[in-house]
Amino acid sequence: MSMTIQIKNLTKTYSGDGVVTIALQDVNLALHEEEFTAIVGPSGSGKSTLLQLIGTLDAPTAGTIHYDAVDVCKLKGKTLADFRFASIGFIFQQFHLLPTLTALENVMSPLFPRKVGYDKKNRAQELLDWVGLAHKQDALPSQLSGGEQQRVAIARALVNRPKWLLADEPTGNLDTSNGEMVFQLLRKYQREHGTGIVFVTHDRHLASQTDRRIEMRDGGVIADTMG
Ligand SMILES: Nc1ncnc2c1ncn2[C@@H]1O[C@H](COP(=O)(O)OP(=O)(O)OP(=O)(O)O)[C@@H](O)[C@H]1O
Ligand SMILES: [Mg+2]
Repeated sequence: MSMTIQIKNLTKTYSGDGVVTIALQDVNLALHEEEFTAIVGPSGSGKSTLLQLIGTLDAPTAGTIHYDAVDVCKLKGKTLADFRFASIGFIFQQFHLLPTLTALENVMSPLFPRKVGYDKKNRAQELLDWVGLAHKQDALPSQLSGGEQQRVAIARALVNRPKWLLADEPTGNLDTSNGEMVFQLLRKYQREHGTGIVFVTHDRHLASQTDRRIEMRDGGVIADTMG
């Protein structure tokens, strides 16, 4: 059965220094795993806020998010950590690799504190190979190009084969050809594994190649286009 993330009446406000910012206002959306979905919109329109809430990294002010039957806003502590580990991978514009770990160790790092039913090193090597970096497994992040670092970050995000991959401007720090390479890797992964991908981008050309584009403005969804 196809997996869905159902978002209902989602609102997020930030308050501080007497100022209230409405980052998201009453967003309703259903995301489907078989759709490679792009989220586009101007700076400050709420894209990252939406992705952080979907990714359970932050809690909404109001509204609900269901992964199939699971109301993720109700999960806490270890249950939430376990759900996130099994279900969600993240990649960001900043690669956030650990500078003292090799590429292979970075890919393995989400598995360090976990019990899993497979060999951790073999799995990490498989993913590094998949992103075309088997030959760089002993390199430190400082010895890798930006495009290579992002590919290591992708391998790390996918190492436990999450059901969903959330990507916040993953090509934002890359030149056009590296950006295209990262995008095509994600596309290929989705086709091979059926992983749901939500891809925030400012790149109209990449967004035009996805299955669905959700356009945001001022904390709301103003357009939702398929094809
Ligand atoms: N931690 C925070 N505290 C206060 N306001 C915040 C916080 N995070 C985001 N905001 C505000 O919420 C709104 C939405 O921000 P968000 O980061 O989601 O935008 P975005 O669409 O991702 O923008 P960009 O394209 O620049 O990344 C903005 O007005 C922003 O200033
Ligand atoms: Mg953002």
